[in-house]
Amino acid sequence: MVQSTGPKKIKCSVFISGTGSNLKSLIEFSIKKNSPISIELIISDNLNAKGLKFGKIFKISNKVFNYKNKLIAEKKIISEIKNKKIELICLAGFMRILSKNFIKKFKGKILNIHPSLLPKYKGLNTHQRAISNSEKYSGCTVHFVNSQLDSGKIILQKKVKINKGETAASLAKKILIQEHKLYPKAISKVFNL
Ligand code: GRF
Repeated sequence: MVQSTGPKKIKCSVFISGTGSNLKSLIEFSIKKNSPISIELIISDNLNAKGLKFGKIFKISNKVFNYKNKLIAEKKIISEIKNKKIELICLAGFMRILSKNFIKKFKGKILNIHPSLLPKYKGLNTHQRAISNSEKYSGCTVHFVNSQLDSGKIILQKKVKINKGETAASLAKKILIQEHKLYPKAISKVFNL
C-alpha cells in the first residue's frame, strides 16, 4: 500500500441539518493535496438531511442523533467525537444551538458559517431582514463559536451586493455560492496557510 507522505491532517467533523452544500464544498476542499483537514465524521440531527448523501458518495461516516433529548444527544456526540479523535468541528447549516457545556469542551475548535455580515443579522431569516432594512450589501461570515449565538470571533467575511428587486431566495443563492469559497479559505486562515 502506498503511504501518504504529506503532513498530518486535522481530523474534522462537519455538523449538518439540511442540504449540505457547504459540507460538499468542505469535502472537496479536504481531498485536495494541500488541504489542512480530513473529514472523518458527518453528524446530523436530521435523518432526512439531504446532505447525508455526501457521506455515502465520499465514504465518510455519518451519524444521526435524535435531538428529542438534547443532553443525551450531545453526550453521544461528544463520545463519538472523542472516539474518532476529532480536532475541529465545522457547523454547516446545523440548526441546533450547542449547549454551553459542549462549547466549553471544544473551546476554540468549533467554527460556524452564517449567511450575513455579522454582527448584523444574527439568528434566522437573515436575507429577508437585510432586504427589509434596505441594506445595500449582505454576505457571509465564518466565525469561531462561543456561548452566544453567532457572536464568536470573526475569521473571514465576504460581502455580496443586494440588487434592486432582490428576493430572499435570490440573495440566499448568491450568498451560498460565496459561502462555498469562504469556508475553506477561513479554515486555511485558522491553520495559517
Ligand atoms: C447556509 O446558508 C449556512 O450559512 C446556514 O445554513 C445554510 C446551509 O446550507 N447556516 P447548506 O446545508 O450548506 O446547503
